[in-house]
Parts: sequence; structure tokens; C-alpha cells
Amino acid sequence: MANPSIIEAFERAGQGHVFAFYSKLDAAAQQRLLAEAAEIDLAEIDRLNRTLLSKAAASVNLDGLVPAPYEKLPDKGGNAAEWAKAKAAGEAALRAGRVAAFTVAGGQGTRLGYDGPKGTFPVTPLKKKTLFQVFAEKILAAGRRYGKPLHWFIMTSHANHAATETFFRENRYFGMDSGRVHFFRQGRMPAVDFNGKILLETPGSIAMSPDGHGGSLRALSRSGSLDLMKREGIDTLSYFQVDNPLVRCIDPSFVGYHLLRKSEMSSKMIPKAYPEERVGHFCVQNGKLVVVEYSDLPMELQRQTDASGQLRFLAGSIAIHILDTEFVRRMAEGGEGVSLPFHRADKKIATIDASGKAVKPEKPNGVKFEMFVFDALPFSQHPLVIETRREDDFSPVKNAEGVDSPKTCRDDQLRQFARWLKTNGAVVQTDKTGLPPFAVEVSPLFGYDEDSFADSWAGLSPKPRVEDGLYLG
Ligand code: UD1
Repeated sequence: MANPSIIEAFERAGQGHVFAFYSKLDAAAQQRLLAEAAEIDLAEIDRLNRTLLSKAAASVNLDGLVPAPYEKLPDKGGNAAEWAKAKAAGEAALRAGRVAAFTVAGGQGTRLGYDGPKGTFPVTPLKKKTLFQVFAEKILAAGRRYGKPLHWFIMTSHANHAATETFFRENRYFGMDSGRVHFFRQGRMPAVDFNGKILLETPGSIAMSPDGHGGSLRALSRSGSLDLMKREGIDTLSYFQVDNPLVRCIDPSFVGYHLLRKSEMSSKMIPKAYPEERVGHFCVQNGKLVVVEYSDLPMELQRQTDASGQLRFLAGSIAIHILDTEFVRRMAEGGEGVSLPFHRADKKIATIDASGKAVKPEKPNGVKFEMFVFDALPFSQHPLVIETRREDDFSPVKNAEGVDSPKTCRDDQLRQFARWLKTNGAVVQTDKTGLPPFAVEVSPLFGYDEDSFADSWAGLSPKPRVEDGLYLG
């Protein structure tokens, strides 16, 4: 049975072509198309077409942009007593069960060229554990350390939801209690052509794609996750991306800083390694904390240095945040002036021509709309940025080769394991960069950060020899 009200609404909005082939579809396909169409907020698309498709809107406003302040690490000039206080406060929150882990895993992972949910990509040097297993074991180990098992929320996409759930089921949730691992799907947005017309992918389906990691705020609410957190006494979410196995999923100092400063959203920064490094930049504009993407900050500003020769826009965003759950609810509910902006990305979008024949474009033929989670920062009360060490928190797998690839990530894990071993008195041969000439591996269940590693290592007797193939599990 056709649903005339949806079709009429699309016609009224100038998007009636979405149903051009409707009468040729069988009943099931008609229902599927109607269900897809019902996901679309036509008023939102109309607003985005009017604001983002015009040329003027494409440029980013850089007026009054200055580098953001951040809490420096104690050995870089920060206040050691403050860091110690923060750590203690974070540990108390963990013992009280106020914290949950949250991974955004809805991306399409096109750059890596890997077919399947990115979290199922193997990354560790010896055991080839997947990204999901590394996070699961870190979260499990932190729960044991603080005497309170943690909940883990994972945002998937329509495309990878079922495969992600199956992967966890088949791997018995990597030792976690399945009742504490929660999957939910992010929202989708239709792609439009350069005239704002919604694109069809086939005669019976709309070209839909994930609405960006910023969609996580709406999705956390819509999925009932925020209600679940409230029931469980969770008010603090530790947010990280699926591509970064080095991340300290649960970092007491970060949690503590966030809570002590009454911040609604906190972020970690690392000093950029070089001006062209492709990370977002923490800045202040009109008194608000903002992140300006690498693609939006002119190279001339990215290269600017201060009197001491240091990069002026030094603070790189590594997409690690802490979110207050009531803040997430407020952002998700929206209201006057409270919503994440959409960004436009011009893409090659597989579509069909007027006769319904498939078209594979060779250059961008349309626009996808995405929200970014860091755009919530200017809406938050008392936002805070703290410094972290790259080697403790950041080595993402983004590209098949070169920078941020499986190879660089493997080497960074090896450097971390070697560093922990050396710090605790083991003899480990390494090169100038700290890389051992062989592969060892530390399971997160043995040690997932400096402290937990030191405790487990101290309890080992006799100590194993550090040589090729050593696995501390
Ligand atoms: C991102 C950040 C950048 C940061 C860098 C650090 C953006 C726009 N930029 O860049 O500021 O310095 O990471 O590594 O985010 N995701 C979803 N749903 C989506 C889109 C993405 O869940 O619709 C998830 C992905 O699964 C991944 C993460 O978000 O976990 C990052 O997405 P990606 O598009 O790869 O961001 P980058 O361009 O690498």
C-alpha cells in the first residue's frame, strides 16, 4: 500500500524524483524505499541545501581565531600536584562505577581498503588481535583494577551493524560480560547533487550514508543508551575512535580533570609532529573552544611559529574526549541554537541516470552531509583540553601504507611495550627510536598502561627474558 503522505511531502519539497521508479518496484521494494524516505528530515535537507550548497558558505570563518590553552603535562611545565589530584579523583569515579567507554565505529574505512567493520582489523604484533579485542581487554582490565566492571557502548552504521554484533558474539565478547557491551546504529543522511536534489543509488533506494561521528550524540539518545546509563549511575563517557589501538580507553587523570573542572566535554591534545600533520587544531574563537580541521586551517597558519620557534597552532586533536551524559542529552534534544552544524563533503556518489541505469562518476558529483563530535565543544560548559603523550595514546590505523598504517601502528605498539619493560628494569635492546629488533607483545589484561604494567611486572617471578616472541598475557 503506497504511503501518499510521504510521496506528497517529497513532491512538495521538490524531491519527487525520488519516487520516479516507484510504480515499477514490487511491493516489498516500494516499502523499503518508503522506509528510507521516512528517515529523511526534508526540512533539514532544505536548510542544508540553502546554507551549505552556496559557494559563500563553503569557506570557514577564521575571524579572531587563536590557539587554545591546555593543561600541560607535569614534565612539560604543568602542575604535578594538580595532575595527582586529578588522577585520584578519576580513580574514585571509576571505583564508583560512574564511567563508561564509548567507541565510534560507524565509519566506512575506505582509506584502509579493508572490507569489513574496521574494528575487526588485526593490529597487534604477535597475536594479531583485532582493534575490538584490544579495546575489550583494556576495558575489562580497567574494570578489574577498579573493582567495577565497565559498560562499553559501540556506535555502528547500517552497513556494519550486523557484522559487528556477529563478530563479538563469535568471539564471546572477548571475555566481557555481554550484558555490558551495547551496540547501536548511527543515523544516516541522503546525498544530494550540486543542485540539492536527493540522489538515488538504484531505482529503489536512496544514496544514504552515515551522518558523521557527531551523529553519535543523537544516536546515544535515540537508542536508549543515555537512559540505560542513568539507570546504571553512569554520568561520564570516555569517547575514542575505532582506529587507534594505543588509546588509553580509561584514563583516570583525564576523567579526574574533567570532573574536578566541572567540564561538560573534555579533550586530549598532542603537540603536532609537523605543520602538515592531518589532525584537527584546538583553537578559541569568540571565547569558545573549537576544533578547526586540518583541511580548513590555511597552511600559512599551520606553519606559523611563535618567538621560540614552536608551532603557534600546536595543539592537535586526537579525537579522544570525555562527555558528560546530561550534556549529550541536551545536545541530542537540540532546541533553539543548540545543534551540531553539518559539514559538506563533495564525493563521487554511485547513482543512476534518468533511465535508471547505474552511473559510476569519475569526479565528485554530489555532496554528503556529516556532523563532527568536536563541534559540540563550543556548546559545553567549562570545556577543558589536557596534554597527553603521543606514545601513550595515539597511533591510528588509517591508511594501507605510509603514515598511520598497520606498519607504523605495529612499531608504535612495540616501542610502548619496550618502554614499559625498560622502565621496570628489564633489559631490552632497541634502536634510537625505541624500537626493538624483534616482536614482543603485552596483553592489555597484563598491563594496559604504565601503572597496571608496573604492578603486574612486579608480581612476576622469575622475570622472563625479553626476546623474540615474548607474550605477557
Ligand atoms: C579524525 C578527526 C581529526 C582527528 C583525527 C585523529 C574528523 C573530521 N577528523 O580524522 O580531527 O585529528 O581523526 O585520528 O573526525 N565515524 C563514525 N561515523 C561516521 C564517520 C566516522 O563512527 O559517520 C568514526 C570512524 O569509525 C572512526 C572515526 O569516526 O572511528 C574517525 O573518522 P574518520 O573519518 O576516519 O576521521 P579522520 O579524517 O581520520
